[in-house]
Amino acid sequence: MSTRPVDLSTTIAGVRMSFCAMNASGACADTEELRQLATSRAGAIVLKTATVHPFVHPQFRSLHNPGYDKLVPLVRQFAARGGKPVIVSIAGATPEEYTVLGRAFAEAGAVLIEANLADDWVTATLAPFEDTRVLRAVLEPLVAASTVPVSVKLPDRVPFPYARLGRELTACGIRAVVAKNDFAGLEKLLLEAGKAFDVIAAGGIKSGYDVSRALAKGAKAVQVGSALTLEGAGIFARLEREMRIARGERRG
Ligand SMILES: Cc1cc2nc3c(=O)[nH]c(=O)nc-3n(C[C@H](O)[C@H](O)[C@H](O)COP(=O)(O)O)c2cc1C
Repeated sequence: MSTRPVDLSTTIAGVRMSFCAMNASGACADTEELRQLATSRAGAIVLKTATVHPFVHPQFRSLHNPGYDKLVPLVRQFAARGGKPVIVSIAGATPEEYTVLGRAFAEAGAVLIEANLADDWVTATLAPFEDTRVLRAVLEPLVAASTVPVSVKLPDRVPFPYARLGRELTACGIRAVVAKNDFAGLEKLLLEAGKAFDVIAAGGIKSGYDVSRALAKGAKAVQVGSALTLEGAGIFARLEREMRIARGERRG
């Protein structure tokens, strides 16, 4: 049994995290759940996607939120604790909305802005992957307005080659992406888009083995959604324990 602790920390877009797993946006949405996350082993706190206006559209439940002005004080509160890095997910129907949100949350103390370009509502309104000019029109001003790095949550499938996506995102100054944790979403992206940005894998992470497998493929971190909703914030300590056991540092 090895005695030296295995380093399970990571750095995403220059943001250091003490553990390479965090919540996926939307899993842990209310203040109490976020508090539990803050004292858990999660490497970061990711807020549920925020929009400029309160969002109650019945067709797009995944985006329900009270509007960014209600969430800015919450970000300020968690950022002021100086504990875990706070990541804020944002979505808009126009490039201007992304810019307003990125600027406001960066000023409130978020250390990374996650531009949610994966949600069906974003696809229905902006359609950022149908035309790379739209993608640039969203991301360039967002990166310029945010005083912190910006990551992009990608939809399950992108309708043009990853090599081109990599060039487009890099040209806009994107430092990280959240990609679907399957072959077409993660491995293909890592193979074809190069190493220009850090990749976070999201989807189906339930065990320390799943985390290790995503890292072995080249992801620098993972996000946990459904399994966290089922198990609660204690899941991060379990993932860490399982990773340490698998690496021979601890016994089961
Ligand atoms: C209850 C719930 C709410 C979600 N809300 C959001 C959200 O606000 N923004 C977002 O980008 N993804 C949202 N998602 C998607 C997750 O972030 C994640 O990408 C997805 O659940 C896949 O991970 P999983 O297989 O671990 O659940 C939500 C998922 C769940 C289960």
